[in-house]
Amino acid sequence: MSVITVYVPGDAGALAVGAEAVAKAIIREAQARGVAIKLVRNGSRGMYWLEPLVEVEVAGRRHAYGPVRARDVASLFEANFHNAAKHPLALGATDALDWLRNQERLTFQRVGVTDPLSLDDYLAHDGFAGLRAALAMAPTDIIKAVTDSGLRGRGGAAFPAGIKWKTVAEAAGTHKYIVCNADEGDSGTFADRMLMEGDPLMLIEGMSIAALAVGASHGYVYIRSEYPHAERAMRTAIEVATAGGYLGADILGSGRAFTLEVRRGAGAYICGEETSLLESIEGKRGQIRFKPPLPAHKGLFGQPTVVNNVLTLATVPVILAKGAQFYGEYGRGRSRGTQPFQLAGNVKHGGLIEKAFGLTLAELIFDWGGGSASGRAVRTAQVGGPLGAYLPPAHFDTPLDYESFTARKAMLGHGGVVVFDDSVDMAVMARFAMEFCAVESCGKCTPCRIGSVRGRELIEHIMAGREVARNLATLRELCDTMISASLCALGGMAPFPVLSALEHFPDDFVRAGRDAA
Ligand SMILES: Cc1cc2nc3c(=O)[nH]c(=O)nc-3n(C[C@H](O)[C@H](O)[C@H](O)COP(=O)(O)O)c2cc1C
Ligand code: SF4
Repeated sequence: MSVITVYVPGDAGALAVGAEAVAKAIIREAQARGVAIKLVRNGSRGMYWLEPLVEVEVAGRRHAYGPVRARDVASLFEANFHNAAKHPLALGATDALDWLRNQERLTFQRVGVTDPLSLDDYLAHDGFAGLRAALAMAPTDIIKAVTDSGLRGRGGAAFPAGIKWKTVAEAAGTHKYIVCNADEGDSGTFADRMLMEGDPLMLIEGMSIAALAVGASHGYVYIRSEYPHAERAMRTAIEVATAGGYLGADILGSGRAFTLEVRRGAGAYICGEETSLLESIEGKRGQIRFKPPLPAHKGLFGQPTVVNNVLTLATVPVILAKGAQFYGEYGRGRSRGTQPFQLAGNVKHGGLIEKAFGLTLAELIFDWGGGSASGRAVRTAQVGGPLGAYLPPAHFDTPLDYESFTARKAMLGHGGVVVFDDSVDMAVMARFAMEFCAVESCGKCTPCRIGSVRGRELIEHIMAGREVARNLATLRELCDTMISASLCALGGMAPFPVLSALEHFPDDFVRAGRDAA
């Protein structure tokens, strides 16, 4: 009897909507019917409105069904889904689905495809090709490849990865470290989590390549505590890679050593900022360090340290495997390559879309996302996390690349897009930005610690109709002070959502006052 492979995501997003119960029901039903199956817990394909998305492999091709509930499983077997038969939940061949077919998946090439913790599966899908290439190169050539590819940091600041690596490679130190920032605190973002759960070996490969390039022998993956599944996947993947000789004292017999460990964060947004993150790994309270020195010169335990986001590091293997030119051919202007965009909020089809930089916000929200989930008009989208600007529909023609967003006083950040319909009250959203900053401030500098509290109060006065013109003027002044005098980008950028709301949706502030008067 031939064994049929069935895929049910083990991704936290799929588990949240019942994937575990579906997996159990499939095993139960297959046993009861005497159908031989192999169940693989893959990552998510990123089509979250279809989760739990069950796939079955028939004659080498995968067919999708979704969203599947445990109660649907008996009828799926009844309909002979394990032979790709028709069923009301059938979506057709997975690789023919427009959502996937029209993406340019480089960083996410294996997510949802492979068994995340199977070394054999990873190798069968070009895994460790980048590391093997790097092992045959001089460190300066690895750095040159990353620089030439145009890869910029995906954590938010978009700093060129190759320049950071060169700085660490040239810095003096007794040890050097690679630190992966997997704190992923931005609202509406989940790409780091998906990648760690769906293809953790790729992140390990990217970190190993970084280590070869700069001469580091140890690394840390700093994962937020809200990501227990990602943490588990990373810990197991480290064991798998070590057992396979891809990590450890002698990587693939090269004589080069690199070891990795996982550190769990404790739920503070500020610990995603690189210097607070380093303090946290060192066992201290997560507070900003003064710069200089840069972490590249004096980072973890005072040693030269590469701090890069999950997506930055996980993109490196494809650059080494396929070449800088291959990767650099994707993108627009100075934003080279692809970005895994994360579409969330009030949107019909939320999920992960990896595309070359340059598609517009309107394409993302309407062509990919299908507009609002509520069916009402889309009024705004916040791009780049809680410190990102709110863009009005008039700006939805903005291409998704770093420079185009900066030109519109916005930022792309980590690529998260949160959609709101026309029921949103932008005065409330502005107040939330200040509240968020007040709650998450590390307290080290006054403009942020005090300014955010005063900012919230001012917006409350405006919303209550108290001295609206005077309080609006004071709010603008306060925002200027926070932008120019805060020690880090939390206080320095929290005014951006406020100012964008004031600029694009002024009526909401006046109306709030009028309603209350
Ligand atoms: C308040 C604050 C929070 C941040 N949170 C994150 C985060 O969760 N993940 C991340 O990768 N970078 C975050 N960053 C950016 C990091 O400080 C740093 O720029 C990044 O980890 C560098 O990696 P990259 O060059 O690969 O982007 C944050 C920055 C600030 C100011
Ligand atoms: S801006 Fe806020 S988070 Fe940043 S150092 Fe100042 S108090 Fe801390």
